[in-house]
Amino acid sequence: MTSLRAFTCDDLFCFNNINLDPLTETYGIPFYLQYLAHWPEYFIVAEAPGGELMGYIMGKAEGSVAREEWHGHVTALSVAPEFRRLGLAAKLMELLEEISERYEESSFQRYREEIDYTTASSCET
Ligand SMILES: CC(C)(COP(=O)(O)OP(=O)(O)OC[C@H]1O[C@@H](n2cnc3c(N)ncnc32)[C@H](O)[C@@H]1OP(=O)(O)O)[C@@H](O)C(=O)NCCC(=O)NCCS
Repeated sequence: MTSLRAFTCDDLFCFNNINLDPLTETYGIPFYLQYLAHWPEYFIVAEAPGGELMGYIMGKAEGSVAREEWHGHVTALSVAPEFRRLGLAAKLMELLEEISERYEESSFQRYREEIDYTTASSCET
């Protein structure tokens, strides 16, 4: 069974089968690490039962919560040639959309709490 799980630093040593493809861009290690550090929930990998990496999606949250322009962004989506046309990319996109919606809701909630806290503290002084 295919498992969808969080991408980890170690996966950078095992994803050549996916990235050795002329249409897939390979970035420098710091670029991937920056995404792992800032938006770990937006970096998902599909793993085959034998442990081989099948594909991954890497994204981030961007925009402004205050202006209600918060949204998810897909930076890379790639599936190894031998695992294509199985619906894996569609599944990874679906998952990223769900994560993005949850992230947006929680960010907006945090933003509201901060405003309430700031308003309450400035009223007290
Ligand atoms: C594009 C890519 C991610 C698709 O992965 P995949 O797992 O084979 O895609 P899926 O099986 O989930 O297919 C999703 C949809 O795209 C369509 N599709 C997939 N590959 C296609 C192709 N080569 N030509 C036309 N349509 C294609 C499928 O038919 C499907 O459409 P449907 O839902 O209407 O049937 C994969 O081919 C890839 O990694 N390409 C190289 C990297 C790349 O171009 N990434 C995108 C830019 S970051």
